Amino acid sequence: MTKEAQIGVIGSGAMGTGIAQVAAMAGHNVVLYDNNTAALEKAKTGLSATFQKLQEKGKIESAAELLSRFSFAATTQTFAGCSLIIEAIVEKLEVKKNVFGEVEQVVGGDCILASNTSSLSITSIAAACSKPERVMGLHFFNPAPLMALVEIIPAIQTEPGLIAIARELMLQWGKLPVLAKDTPGFIVNRIARPFYGEAIRIYEEGIAGIGAIDKVMTEKGGFRMGPFTLMDYIGHDVNYVVTETVFQAFFYDPRYKPSFSQKRLLEAGWLGRKTGRGFYNYAQNAAVTDNITDMNTAGHTMERILAMLINEAVDALYLGVATVADIETAMTKGVNYPKGLLQWCDDWGASNCLAVLDGLYEKYHEDRYRASPLLRKHAAGNKKFV
Ligand code: NAI
Repeated sequence: MTKEAQIGVIGSGAMGTGIAQVAAMAGHNVVLYDNNTAALEKAKTGLSATFQKLQEKGKIESAAELLSRFSFAATTQTFAGCSLIIEAIVEKLEVKKNVFGEVEQVVGGDCILASNTSSLSITSIAAACSKPERVMGLHFFNPAPLMALVEIIPAIQTEPGLIAIARELMLQWGKLPVLAKDTPGFIVNRIARPFYGEAIRIYEEGIAGIGAIDKVMTEKGGFRMGPFTLMDYIGHDVNYVVTETVFQAFFYDPRYKPSFSQKRLLEAGWLGRKTGRGFYNYAQNAAVTDNITDMNTAGHTMERILAMLINEAVDALYLGVATVADIETAMTKGVNYPKGLLQWCDDWGASNCLAVLDGLYEKYHEDRYRASPLLRKHAAGNKKFV
């Protein structure tokens, strides 16, 4: 696809506006559509301010020229000349299906239709289209202009040739594309679940407090943010809903079970940083006093969360969700983990990681802690992943 190809974006919220910016900065003309005119206006003002700042910093030549590549549209009719449409509207399957159906009436026969969904099945979205073979997932990360990772997700109906076209285009846009099987959470939102879920479980069991767990994960683990700080930052409306959707989509596999602690925060409207309160109370400068003084507990907390994360990465590999290289890229570029989880497993030793999981399984007798057969195989053979 060349720069002359016109790109359409459905939804001018946080993600749609970011994706539209990326496409315009890569040289395309972009049609940005939203059914809410206030959202469109907000996007226009936001993009204008962003381009102005980039011009002042000398990163682009002309803010006006970049803005002139945009058409802001309140109807899908303007998508007629587009070669690729990327949808980034509300995360509701029925709404997405309707919009795809509507857009398909307008665009040409070879226009590619992509969804930025975080957790819905691409196959089910494709099934709503008269040409499901042209539908795929293109999952960007927030903020789209800054985060390099894009997960490419073909539906089972997708024409295989589209994968190479999407990969090539994402490289042209300066992105790092990885290929993911159409399974719940794709790569990042599947493998990252224990970072939140296991941390909450440790907290709910009273083993360590939120401040202590965050401290261990940043200082000992090297993660940029601890799990509770990160969940507050993402917002519980987003993070909890992804967890619940992934849990349901995995046929209620206990590995992905949501927690009452986080559900209650959502119910109370304590959505995190944006509402001033989540796990932390930001009115009190997020001050927490709980610190782990017992180094055994600290060490075990870190090992427990890490073992669960590695197990997810290994199991995703085992089940063919993605390749070793793509799993490593996804976790280091999509959620900025300090090290790829498969590399981490190699460094730690698969048998050490397995021993932590088997210890948890022994303690709880819960399926949640079952080790992936591939981890067991690597531990037995003393094998490396990377
Ligand atoms: P948002 O709420 O900021 O924006 C959604 C926009 O879609 C709104 O402007 C709304 O007016 C518009 N919209 C809703 N229904 C529409 C319809 N029927 N027709 C046209 N426009 C409609 O949402 P956000 O955060 O940008 O997310 C959009 C999609 O991207 C979701 O599928 C989400 O799961 C996914 N996503 C979100 C990420 C995030 O961190 N926020 C990261 C990666 C993917």
